[in-house]
Amino acid sequence: MTSSERVGTGFQFVDPVLAEVVQAGLAEVEEVLRKVVRSDFHPVMQTSLHLVDAGGKRIRPLFTLLAAQFTGTWNRENVIKAAAVVELTHLATLYHDDVMDEATMRRGAASANAKWDNSIAILTGDYLFAHASALTADLGVVAARIIAETFSELVTGQMRETMGPREGEDPVEHYLKTVKEKTGSLIATAARFGAMFSGMTDEQTDSVRAYGDVIGAAFQISDDVIDIESPTEQSGKTPGTDLREGVKTLPMLYALAEPGAEGSRLGRLLSGPISDDAEVEEALELLRSSSGLVKARRTLDEYVDEARAALGKLPACPARDAMESLSEYVVARSH
Ligand code: IPE
Ligand code: IPE
Ligand code: MG
Ligand code: MG
Repeated sequence: MTSSERVGTGFQFVDPVLAEVVQAGLAEVEEVLRKVVRSDFHPVMQTSLHLVDAGGKRIRPLFTLLAAQFTGTWNRENVIKAAAVVELTHLATLYHDDVMDEATMRRGAASANAKWDNSIAILTGDYLFAHASALTADLGVVAARIIAETFSELVTGQMRETMGPREGEDPVEHYLKTVKEKTGSLIATAARFGAMFSGMTDEQTDSVRAYGDVIGAAFQISDDVIDIESPTEQSGKTPGTDLREGVKTLPMLYALAEPGAEGSRLGRLLSGPISDDAEVEEALELLRSSSGLVKARRTLDEYVDEARAALGKLPACPARDAMESLSEYVVARSH
């Protein structure tokens, strides 16, 4: 398999003209990603390219490119750069996230912390952030401020997840806030950049951003369903990572809220991080057939309806249709 085959969602466009424009844009983003991580110091280039080459869906650049296709007047150069900025920022957070989650697999390859060590993974993430910042400088002060605010929100979400809900705080509310911050924020900015650099009105840009916010949170919920449901061959990650880390995701929280759940076997297994392989497998099995999973899927559907409402405020065009299909893809990938 070549690296270009491992990259992308496999998302099918209905409109062939739009497909061509977006695919050409994504190919350019790939070139930018590879160009910006070049370094005279070969090791840092090697560790950075490790996950660039391993694959990934490039869903954030896809949002940027699609959001830029409403007006027919996009600033191509800036949109490509903005798409690369969001992917680089995302990539940097993956290096750091795998350290925090003690994950061993990412994008179907060994995670950087597993292949090298935590220090190398953290430094590589920092290196990628540095390059994302340098590239953002080309996009001007407004974009630089937006990405800084976005990153601050993302980190707040990661921190909120790490700390867990406060005493007396509703765990589902805490979870929904966390996913909006840690994942919705960057996907919203990805889409917002596309709108900004194609001359959409402020009002339209707000709708694109609202769409990204909701669909980004939904994307994280579906990722959490995938952690329970999908084998490594599909996700490129190790199932049950959330259980091992003791992170209570939406299907777990819903399952725990069922009457009598606390004294049940699943309730006992979910009372803390699980380290035993057989117990992880057992908890996964119980979760797969739980009403918590069904309920989490229902929440996903509600989010997609909300995203559709935000899209309804935008002019009807092939880009809007594609964005709508993309939101359905977000849900479908966890079915
Ligand atoms: C993984 O993001 C982390 C989440 C925010 C869910 P992606 O699922 O977009 O990961 P890649 O980029 O395709 O590897
Ligand atoms: C990752 O969340 C979110 C960010 C990197 C901001 P997760 O920990 O759930 O993502 P995966 O499952 O490792 O991709
Ligand atoms: Mg993780
Ligand atoms: Mg995490």
